[in-house]
Amino acid sequence: MTMNWSADSWRNRTALQLPEYTDEAALKQATDKLSSYPLLVFAGEARSLKNRLAAVSRGEAFLLQGGDCAESFAEFSSDNIRDTFRVMLQMAIVLTFGAKKPVVKVGRMAGQFAKPRSAPTETVDGVELPSYRGDIINDLPFTVEARTPKPEKMLEAYLHSAATLNLLRAFATGGYANLDRVASWNLDFTNGDNAKEYKQMAEKISASLAFMDACGVNSGTTHLMEQVEYFTSHEALLLPYEEALTREDSISGEMLAGSAHMLWIGDRTRQPDGAHVEYCRGVLNPIGIKCGPSMSTDDLKILLDKLNPENEAGRITLIGRFGAGKVADHLPELIGAVKEIGANVVWCSDPMHGNTIKAEGGYKTRPFQSILTEIKEYSEICRSEGVYPGGIHLEMTGKNVTECTGGLQDLKDSDLSDRYHTACDPRLNASQALEVAFLLAEELEKL
Ligand code: PEP
Ligand code: CO
Repeated sequence: MTMNWSADSWRNRTALQLPEYTDEAALKQATDKLSSYPLLVFAGEARSLKNRLAAVSRGEAFLLQGGDCAESFAEFSSDNIRDTFRVMLQMAIVLTFGAKKPVVKVGRMAGQFAKPRSAPTETVDGVELPSYRGDIINDLPFTVEARTPKPEKMLEAYLHSAATLNLLRAFATGGYANLDRVASWNLDFTNGDNAKEYKQMAEKISASLAFMDACGVNSGTTHLMEQVEYFTSHEALLLPYEEALTREDSISGEMLAGSAHMLWIGDRTRQPDGAHVEYCRGVLNPIGIKCGPSMSTDDLKILLDKLNPENEAGRITLIGRFGAGKVADHLPELIGAVKEIGANVVWCSDPMHGNTIKAEGGYKTRPFQSILTEIKEYSEICRSEGVYPGGIHLEMTGKNVTECTGGLQDLKDSDLSDRYHTACDPRLNASQALEVAFLLAEELEKL
């Protein structure tokens, strides 16, 4: 057991970004109930993911992490879950081909419901109300009723997460993920007028599969061709929820965050003495740390020591999110600090959060070109510093939304209003997400 830690020791620390629940009795009722509910994941799965990430940290695999900025109850449906899962599998095949390495697939799914906000309240026409903090906390409409944090929403989020995970597990092992089929979806995509430049790669993938088939390696002879490993993750923001789902693993005696396989600490809540770091310190799951421009080398070193005192490979993923044009100002010194203390980490790029702008018309958007620029800058700096750029963290959906501009469809500011559905930040749509995979595969081929 981690020294001086308990599932509620975060309560003795400063916790930023938590809602103020006014109804103490309702809060206790909700968290008591959650504490009696089954865990969503099993400790052995979190450990397997840690082993996979250890391989990434050694340069032997690649991490693909993606999904909604914020899942929403309104958008909860089989189709949405299937489409995001499907595009992640398509991307994973392309990336496997580029990197010549296995791809570890981690959804921002089945629990990504709580959001940090830049301000605790929002004022419209002179009326000030609490900010919307995600469907696990309150609701989006600008009314007192909707914006009041309600503890029972944690139970609803748990049930949505359980149903999502159930479907993901079925898709991952029930035949939907058959490699031939996923590769043929990529061929369909590159047959389109816009994606012709990627056709050659998609055809090479299909030819490789045909060759393996001729050698007798196919879904008839090995289940490896029709099953995938798929993990879940979310930001460990809402600590009362995480605490209620924390349990001891009876095999090892270690503590497990039972809400997802992997948790990450957001850029706004990574204070070394803060509550979020305190909570994550004591659970066995792999932990991500978002590293924005304000991450100092001193803080990073303290965080690595606190969160991974044994320097276990696969435990920590550093998720850099600096913004196009700014990677060189920050990443080299963070790499230097990690080298100095000899820490084992996965180097992962989140090219989304540093590239959010307001479009004409008021929508929050992210230009596809800035996303690509950040990805390239990140890989080039890793290469020149001699570390492996091992992962990508994307906000994306399998639906054909219009939230980020650019890409093959050449979406313009004026197109954003067509299908702008995100509950929080703008996501890549299916075509833009696949395009990122093809371009990233080219980067990975250079390694
Ligand atoms: C997010 O991943 O949605 C997020 C809020 O990121 P960050 O903490 O990096 O701002
Ligand atoms: Co986001």
